[in-house]
Amino acid sequence: MAAERGRRRAPGLAREVHGESTQRQGADDYHVPVLVDEVADLIADEPDIVVDATLGGGGHAAAVLTARPRVRVLGVDRDPEARVVAGGRLAAFGDRVRVVAGRFGELSAILEQETAYVAGSAIGAVLFDLGVSSHQLDAPGRGFSLRADAPLDMRMDPTQGATAAEFLESVDEDTLVLLLRENGETRFARVLARAIMRSQPRTTSDLVAVVDRAVPPGARRRGPSAVRVFQALRRAVNEEGAELVDGLRQALTALRVDGALIVISYHSGEDRVVKDFLRDGVTGGCTCPPALPCVCGAVPTLRVRSLRAITAGPAEIAANPRARSARLRVGWKVAA
Ligand SMILES: C[S@@+](CC[C@H](N)C(=O)[O-])C[C@H]1O[C@@H](n2cnc3c(N)ncnc32)[C@H](O)[C@@H]1O
Repeated sequence: MAAERGRRRAPGLAREVHGESTQRQGADDYHVPVLVDEVADLIADEPDIVVDATLGGGGHAAAVLTARPRVRVLGVDRDPEARVVAGGRLAAFGDRVRVVAGRFGELSAILEQETAYVAGSAIGAVLFDLGVSSHQLDAPGRGFSLRADAPLDMRMDPTQGATAAEFLESVDEDTLVLLLRENGETRFARVLARAIMRSQPRTTSDLVAVVDRAVPPGARRRGPSAVRVFQALRRAVNEEGAELVDGLRQALTALRVDGALIVISYHSGEDRVVKDFLRDGVTGGCTCPPALPCVCGAVPTLRVRSLRAITAGPAEIAANPRARSARLRVGWKVAA
């Protein structure tokens, strides 16, 4: 992996520290990636850079580097722990990988900062494997899981921004209702928001208890309210909605013509954003009646083979239940 010394950094981008012990946890235990072969199949074996914008434990990156010997990978993650684990896993690929810190919304700045690594190559694909890794979810102390008692933190990058507990102190009830509704907890959003605001939970156990008390006993059996509340809060704390939109736009700008924009989502709201982004790219935002030729001057930016998502088969779902909700969508950039 190339050294980072002496490189210019975009504002707000943390410097990555390589060489720190990467073996504290095996990358295989860290996260089992989904739709790995499908992702590798979508990437051309060209002397390109593939940006893995959600490096995680490096599973997808390792598969791509193995299956596509001509590509190099620029791996990005906002979580320092993920970068250390992935850096260790991918070290065997030497100069074909570079691991950097950053968020989706910083992709353009990262690519500008990394010109020395990217130089001479085009961006052949950008991969987003959204959400959190199994390790982030399971790590006691990070506050993502309702199964372990921990401070209510939930930041993917624990060095930046407000924790979930601080977020709850700063938000008003109506905003919290909206956040819960966006995440599917429509029936009890108001009741839950009021209870949460009143009790101001500081730990994951506090939050589980508030949700349990707020939801009527009959309804508790029908839906995992706490799971949805945790997800809604995590998405808000990490600004996942805005990050996704920014990331998709910046990825499309960065891609070469025929480069692949590959997105795996696990949440229906997120999948809708991705689908709409691809559809808008295909139509160029055309407003003309579908039966008539386009006269509005819309210029397509993407082509797709299908607007249907690629999903995991039964064998993968049996081996990795997380794959059940995975929706992979892909579009290829067209010449403007
Ligand atoms: C589902 S995991 C990716 C797993 C990875 N594909 C693998 O094979 O191990 C998602 C990763 O993306 C990171 N992530 C999520 N949103 C991000 C964002 N806006 N900017 C940068 N990294 C993000 C998380 O920290 C997490 O490590």
